Amino acid sequence: MIKISPSILAADFSRLRQQVELVETAGADMLHIDVMDGLFAPNLTLGPALVECIRKYSNLEFDCHLMVENPDNFINMFVKAGADIITVHYEAAKHLQRTLNYIRSCNLKAAVALNPSTPIEGLKYVLDDLDMILIMTVNPGYSCQRFIPAMLDKVRELKKMLGSRKIDIQVDGGINLENLYAITEAGANVVVAGNAIYMSEFPDKTIQTFRETAYDAEA
Ligand code: DX5
Ligand code: ZN
Repeated sequence: MIKISPSILAADFSRLRQQVELVETAGADMLHIDVMDGLFAPNLTLGPALVECIRKYSNLEFDCHLMVENPDNFINMFVKAGADIITVHYEAAKHLQRTLNYIRSCNLKAAVALNPSTPIEGLKYVLDDLDMILIMTVNPGYSCQRFIPAMLDKVRELKKMLGSRKIDIQVDGGINLENLYAITEAGANVVVAGNAIYMSEFPDKTIQTFRETAYDAEA
């Protein structure tokens, strides 16, 4: 079964606690938290103080997607704030293997994100060091961007490269009910969705529809 990770970047920040509880009650598996520094990604978003604040109200797995330069400088802050998964960008981590090991040494899951133009081959020698790979299906920066169709092949190739390894394949950006089946059929098993969930009329029903629409590899 796929895991659904609503992205709070598309939530109504004026009632964030309610927005987190809404998706948790509706059966989301994780909460996706987009961290941008205005350097790696052209936007400023959420930080560790916010993670700490919502941690008190949620048992969801907190999936912190760091779209920042020098991610090593921020890992401890997110560990302390209550993250469960930390994702760093391949393009920003100078010593990726060391960074992944550090995240795991803090008892968190370690993940790497690849921008759309970054090939998957660079991950070949760090597969033992990670729990999840995030294939960006838009360029980092904003919610509501359009899904890049070439990422279907990228996910397919990654799935092939991983073989029988138990590594999650996450996709993030522009995922909606139109492209969900194709991307999960290609091999993604963790789906981030911001706009498609939070801006739908009934986010809780949308989560249910996501589950019914996705390709089920075990069925
Ligand atoms: C983009 C972010 C995404 C974004 C997804 O830089 O990493 O997580 O919130 O939003 P949607 O699903 O609206 O494209
Ligand atoms: Zn993200």
